[in-house]
Amino acid sequence: MKKVIILDHPLIQHKLTMLRDKKTDVKVFREIVEELSNLMAYEVTRDIPLKDIKIETPIARTTGKIIAGKKMAIVTILRAGLGMAGGILRLIPSAKVGHIGIYRDPETLKPVCYYAKLPQDIDKRDIIIVDPMLATGGTAVAAIEYVRRFTKSHIRFMCLVAAPEGIKMVRKYFKEVRIYTATVDEGLNEHAYIVPGLGDAGDRLFGTK
Ligand code: URA
Repeated sequence: MKKVIILDHPLIQHKLTMLRDKKTDVKVFREIVEELSNLMAYEVTRDIPLKDIKIETPIARTTGKIIAGKKMAIVTILRAGLGMAGGILRLIPSAKVGHIGIYRDPETLKPVCYYAKLPQDIDKRDIIIVDPMLATGGTAVAAIEYVRRFTKSHIRFMCLVAAPEGIKMVRKYFKEVRIYTATVDEGLNEHAYIVPGLGDAGDRLFGTK
C-alpha cells in the first residue's frame, strides 16, 4: 500500500476548493472542515481488518463481517486539528480522543510540546493523528514522536492540505506512518505557509483574524 494517499474523490475536491476560497466565511469553513474530515475518514479506515461472525437474518442463517481489529483513537494537534475530530467521530463514534499542543520555540525553532492528554489505553488502539495542514512537518513529526512513546500501534496521519516538504519530513523520520491528504500543494512560502494552501487553518476555523 502507498504511504502517501491523495484522496481525490470529487466531493472531497469540491469541498477543498470551497475551503481554499478566501471568501468562505468562518461558519462555512468550519462546516466544510468537518464534512471533509468525515468523508476522508472513510478512506482512512478502508484497510481496517474484518472478521466473520455467524448471524441469523429473519430469513436465514448467514455469515456477516464485523470490524475485528483494534479500537481507534484520534489525536488532534491543537488548535486546528480540533476542527477535524467531530467529522471523524460521526463515523467512528466509539473512538477516544487525545490532544497534543505544540509550539515552535522562537529561539531554537524546535517544536515544543506544551500540552498532551492521550487516552490511557492508547497502546491498545490504532491511531489517527489529525492536523489540517502538513506544512514543514516539524509539528507532525513532534506529535508522532510523542504518541510513539506510548504505543507501537499503527499510526495514520490525516491532513487536508500537505506540502511536499512536510511529507518528506514525516517520511524521513516515520516511514511506517501513512499520510492521507486531499491535496499535495506546490510548496511553502517564506513564512512557512502552504502555497496556494488555504491560509491559516486555525484562524479561519476559529475566526481569530
Ligand atoms: N499552518 C496553517 O494553518 N497554514 C499553512 O499554510 C501552514 C501551516
